[in-house]
Amino acid sequence: DASDIEKGTYPYYMLKEIDEQPVVMRKIVQKYQTIDGEIAIDQDLLTTLKSSDRVYIVACGTSSHAGWASKKFFETLTHLPVEIHLSSEFGYNMPLLSKKPFFIYLSQSGETADSRQVLVKTNELGHPSLTITNVAGSTLSREATYTLLLHAGPEIAVASTKAYTAQIAVMAVLAKALGTEKGIANAVEFDLFHELGLIATAMETMINEKEHLEELTANYLSATRNAFYIGRGNDYYVSMEAALKLKEISYIQAEGFAAGELKHGTIALIEEGTPVIGIITDAVTGQHTRGNLQEVKSRGANTLVISSEGLAKPDDQILLPTVHPLLTSLLAVVPTQLIAYFATLQRGYDVDKPRNLAKSVTVE
Ligand code: G6P
Repeated sequence: DASDIEKGTYPYYMLKEIDEQPVVMRKIVQKYQTIDGEIAIDQDLLTTLKSSDRVYIVACGTSSHAGWASKKFFETLTHLPVEIHLSSEFGYNMPLLSKKPFFIYLSQSGETADSRQVLVKTNELGHPSLTITNVAGSTLSREATYTLLLHAGPEIAVASTKAYTAQIAVMAVLAKALGTEKGIANAVEFDLFHELGLIATAMETMINEKEHLEELTANYLSATRNAFYIGRGNDYYVSMEAALKLKEISYIQAEGFAAGELKHGTIALIEEGTPVIGIITDAVTGQHTRGNLQEVKSRGANTLVISSEGLAKPDDQILLPTVHPLLTSLLAVVPTQLIAYFATLQRGYDVDKPRNLAKSVTVE
């Protein structure tokens, strides 16, 4: 529907799509919930997954980061090991597969050539597959055994935002359904639809922090050459996506790094004023990330902390409302999307149409 893709009063699609994320979370709850509150996922898909011994997520760009953000909860809820692979690498350097592999293709567009070439190969090998996509009837959807839709509405901005969070949410729906099917207590007890509702509300809180985030971005990022996001575990995975978002539209050279790994080389890049943004949503790893932030601060870095309210220290600049520990990525990414947006505006670039990039890449 053409009216769906109107910018309305928004200056850029990216901002509109960031703002739509709470609605998308609620839409996913609505689309994947039966009238009696059960999960509406194809039984055949669950049966096939139940007999699989390993999940291989294959994707590119932001979609591969959504795969990383899903690994921990998927393994916790289903007891199935999950590997994440880049499509462009996997097809030509296929690792030794498990006995009963199951492939998940994450693709907003469903048209990415790198991912399709892998799907063609896994189809030839006879392995079952699922495409999770925003586009019904897309190539990857048609050629995979199963499809789940994101229901995120059209995503127009080249920099992906709502598709990332929708992919994670749909992966959570799948994990909850499979874990429940397998009788795994973690999944049975996990009130996912309720938690996604809380995520939607928490996202709204972050989205209402635009002025604060715009000001922080002006102070920390508007004039820098490079920047780092650091975190551990899920916070590391969000860091990778946060850095991609920042670099692809603002052209600030940005890297998402495992916080503990900085000291093994990359810390050499820290100079007076280098922005280092730490993401902290886990109590245990958060302590260590704080230590790593201290290390770079003492070498001149301008540190900025995004932390969950319950774990926050008085100086932390961005506070995330507390949400379920398995789903923190859905929320932590939101301020980083807005930081990328404001950094791009402040540096005078076109937010929706970054140079050299296409929304959907149909060549290998
Ligand atoms: C392009 C887009 C990225 C996207 C990637 C994968 O490079 O610019 O935003 O993450 O393709 O796209 P897909 O449609 O497969 O998710």
